[in-house]
Amino acid sequence: MSQEDTLVEDNAMVNNDKFVEVNYDDAIPNNVDLSSDRQLLRALESWHPNYIDWWKDMGPDGFQNADVYLRTAVGVDPAGWAKFGYVKMPNYRWGILLAPKVEGRTIPCGRHKGEPVWQEVPGEYRSLLRRLIVVQGDTEPASVEQQRFLGKTAPSLYDMRNLFQVNVEEGRHLWAMVYLLVKHFGKDGREEAQALLERRSGQQDNPRILGAFNELTPDWLSFFMFTYFTDRDGKMQLAALAESGFDPLSRSCRFMLTEEAHHLFVGETGVGRTIEATCNAMVKAGITDANDVEAIRKLGVVDLPLLQRKANFHMSVTRDLFGSEISSNGAESFSSGLKGRFNEAKLTDDHQLQDTNYTVTRVVDGKLVDEDAPALRAINCRLLDDYMADCQGGIDRWNKTIEKAGINFKITQPHKGFNRRIGEFAGHRISPTGAILSEADWAAQNGNWLPNASDMEFINSLMKPCHEAGQYASWIAPPRMGINQQPVDYEYVKID
Ligand SMILES: [Fe+2]
Ligand SMILES: [Fe+2]
Repeated sequence: MSQEDTLVEDNAMVNNDKFVEVNYDDAIPNNVDLSSDRQLLRALESWHPNYIDWWKDMGPDGFQNADVYLRTAVGVDPAGWAKFGYVKMPNYRWGILLAPKVEGRTIPCGRHKGEPVWQEVPGEYRSLLRRLIVVQGDTEPASVEQQRFLGKTAPSLYDMRNLFQVNVEEGRHLWAMVYLLVKHFGKDGREEAQALLERRSGQQDNPRILGAFNELTPDWLSFFMFTYFTDRDGKMQLAALAESGFDPLSRSCRFMLTEEAHHLFVGETGVGRTIEATCNAMVKAGITDANDVEAIRKLGVVDLPLLQRKANFHMSVTRDLFGSEISSNGAESFSSGLKGRFNEAKLTDDHQLQDTNYTVTRVVDGKLVDEDAPALRAINCRLLDDYMADCQGGIDRWNKTIEKAGINFKITQPHKGFNRRIGEFAGHRISPTGAILSEADWAAQNGNWLPNASDMEFINSLMKPCHEAGQYASWIAPPRMGINQQPVDYEYVKID
């Protein structure tokens, strides 16, 4: 039975006058006083059925009737945000939850710094604010669409469950942004909320807004790379929006960050377990040369150079999500107080950046040079640099696994300008080590740096479903621990 059906059936048993209020409040865990906000209820009433239609159309393909061991957030306190139990995905209780209000909070940056935060949309920044919310909101359903076929080739029930957990939470993140749109932006907010259900990842005539969210996520290695590298862009954007002077946005994003942490965990451990399986198989077979690709692939594991190429691809397309390094929009988002920097409140400068500079790497006369740019206009560049630093922790842990196995190989981050389409490096050909190349050199070598056709064919050949509890595909090691203290051979998904 779908959530819709459940609602209708519940409705029949409850007081008819309070038809929607009672049931929506039950079905949607919330701390925004949903049952007494008639306008909001009415807006959600018309949006919600369309959301469920979208989920059935574009959410996980198959498995909609499977019982999945999911975490549901029903409140924002430690006890409330992690309720575990079997749920059929269409019945998931997507909630509207804001982190607790901080009394006396002030705008942390820009020209309004120190003024009380806004509880209502500041009129002068209305369209800029709406755009920020729409762009963030658009990424959430996009990733669900990108990942929709992966259940079929899951390397274990544990991994399948993690995929679905990420998917339902991205769905909830869409709810979080839709709540802000319909609550605070009237008619055009409702129209934007509807449009979020109409764009489609990768579709020619109505694509998702940002490039990386129109790429395919065709296999599990892509999924793990995506959740490590691209969800981390999500973390950085949410962290910057959590500093917003528009308090409802700040509070929404602060709570979303708690869920985002799990997505990053899925990515880091997914790639880490892939590396572990590769190293174990190499050691067992007595192979020490990471470049002995043919022999390694015969073992049914992913060779490390291929992992590096996959990482290069995902890092470079994700870096494009930060926008142009030098950006007047970025400057205005900051100066208006709508979006801060990463950890804004903890930074010790004047938080206004009127007379400060920031170093930006650019291509000048065919050479890479570091130049001082006005810090305000370099806000995007700074967030990208913070992102790249944030990526390194997991990469170091992956490298420890390789080192422990006695294999001489290191996963590295390519140069910031490698394979970029947006910003300072767009239109230039730059190698992973930061050499500027001619078009011919790039054409001759990029197959060594980005996944090539035979790589993708090989990855595809590994994507055989492993859907028995406790079994794991050859190319990925079992996790150290299960979910919520359950064993690793727990039946995380009961496939119908
Ligand atoms: Fe998200
Ligand atoms: Fe995420």
